Amino acid sequence: MPAASSAPRILITGATGAIGGALARQYAGPEVRLFLHGRQQASLRALADVCRDKGAEVTTSSIDLCDDEALLAWLEQLCEPEPPTLVIAGAGMNISHADDGTGERWQDASDLLAINLRAPMAMLNYLAPRMRRRGHGQLVLMSSLAAYHGLPMIPSYSASKAGIKAYGEALRGWLAPYGVGVSVVMPGYVSSRMCHAMPGPKPFLWQPERAARLIRRGVARNRARISFPFPLDFACWWLAVLPAGLAQRFLKWFNYGEPAS
Ligand SMILES: NC(=O)c1ccc[n+]([C@@H]2O[C@H](COP(=O)([O-])OP(=O)(O)OC[C@H]3O[C@@H](n4cnc5c(N)ncnc54)[C@H](OP(=O)(O)O)[C@@H]3O)[C@@H](O)[C@H]2O)c1
Repeated sequence: MPAASSAPRILITGATGAIGGALARQYAGPEVRLFLHGRQQASLRALADVCRDKGAEVTTSSIDLCDDEALLAWLEQLCEPEPPTLVIAGAGMNISHADDGTGERWQDASDLLAINLRAPMAMLNYLAPRMRRRGHGQLVLMSSLAAYHGLPMIPSYSASKAGIKAYGEALRGWLAPYGVGVSVVMPGYVSSRMCHAMPGPKPFLWQPERAARLIRRGVARNRARISFPFPLDFACWWLAVLPAGLAQRFLKWFNYGEPAS
């Protein structure tokens, strides 16, 4: 068995996305081993080349994250000779209501839950005990400001992000005594395919590079919650604190009420 080294071993899913790609570029450097996951082959290859140019050793994968067997076989490989030091579970999707007023299609919602909630839980269910046994490492879960209070335009997305937030917070308490950190990331609007496909206003839109810099700083400090940008974070936090009826009225006033259809 090859000897374990102290070089960072960083796993990023959603690396072909805006935030995941910016994070990969942020972390890439000499002595860094990157495991990048994404489905778009051309984007993944291009990102790997950029990261290699920055000195990182890069391995890519496009396995189906929603297939337990394939996922566990891949994670088993990644844990040789030792588990990753940093895991960023970033892959995610969003869906919209149907135009005819029938709400979200169940198949779409089910696919969303599989990638936004079930897949990261399956990943961390495998990796967390191994990192705990080793006694160090950091897990990063991608939630959203939509986790504070469900948004009428994106019910399943809100539910998935509230679920992953709760899961991350719970893991943090379980792992802290064993030297493993957990951070839940709650972005507002960050320019990406997913973000621009979503209906509704997008105040305080950030570029992915800015988000990645902030996430990296927060992860280095093992911040429990990395939420941004401040004004939107503060407003959404209040939605969770206020009585639900009042929070819903605020959502309507600020044009986050019912979907157009
Ligand atoms: N952008 C925002 O405003 C915002 C706000 C809050 C939270 N977030 C969260 O941040 C994370 C990254 O989003 P982003 O803005 O960077 O979006 P993005 O540019 O659309 O990227 C989404 C990433 O997720 C991957 N993905 C989606 N469905 C997948 C599936 N079924 N299997 C495997 N990979 C899948 C995509 O892979 P392929 O490209 O290969 O398909 C891509 O790498 C997501 O979890 C998202 O919910 C984003």
